[in-house]
Amino acid sequence: MIGLTVRGQGRSVGRSIVDFGAEAMKRILFAALGAWLVANAYAAVPGDEAHGQRLLQANCTGCHDSSVYTRPNRMIHSLDELKHQVEGCGHAAKKEFSSTEVQDLVKHLNDRYYHIQ
Ligand code: HEC
Repeated sequence: MIGLTVRGQGRSVGRSIVDFGAEAMKRILFAALGAWLVANAYAAVPGDEAHGQRLLQANCTGCHDSSVYTRPNRMIHSLDELKHQVEGCGHAAKKEFSSTEVQDLVKHLNDRYYHIQ
């Protein structure tokens, strides 16, 4: 996505290859820094966030959308509760998730919505 944006802008303003390279490098560095900061803030929760997101999109949108994770009176306030809810909803969805998959879902939900430390 970053590559596409940078390339598009480079073409539209017609910068030289050298300027374009420096600008692209800056963008890549900022993107990497952002990713690093996010990763570090919730490093306590292990798991594969991107895999969790794919699992969520494939299995978890039938009964509720993501608004339940952000509603003011949401039920989940600890990582333990989040894990149990994911397992419970997994059963409700008639899915048997492995413990790794549950962990990846917890990681995704926490990084994206709950931010429990
Ligand atoms: C069979 C229907 C169903 C499916 C499928 C489902 N859920 Fe749920 N989920 C619920 C219900 C019902 C609630 C409770 C909603 C309420 O209290 O209003 C809930 C609530 C939640 C909450 C708590 C929200 C809060 O208040 O903090 C989480 C987290 C959650 N679900 C995760 C998942 C995940 C992850 C999946 C996919 C594995 C999933 N759900 C699939 C029915 C489902």
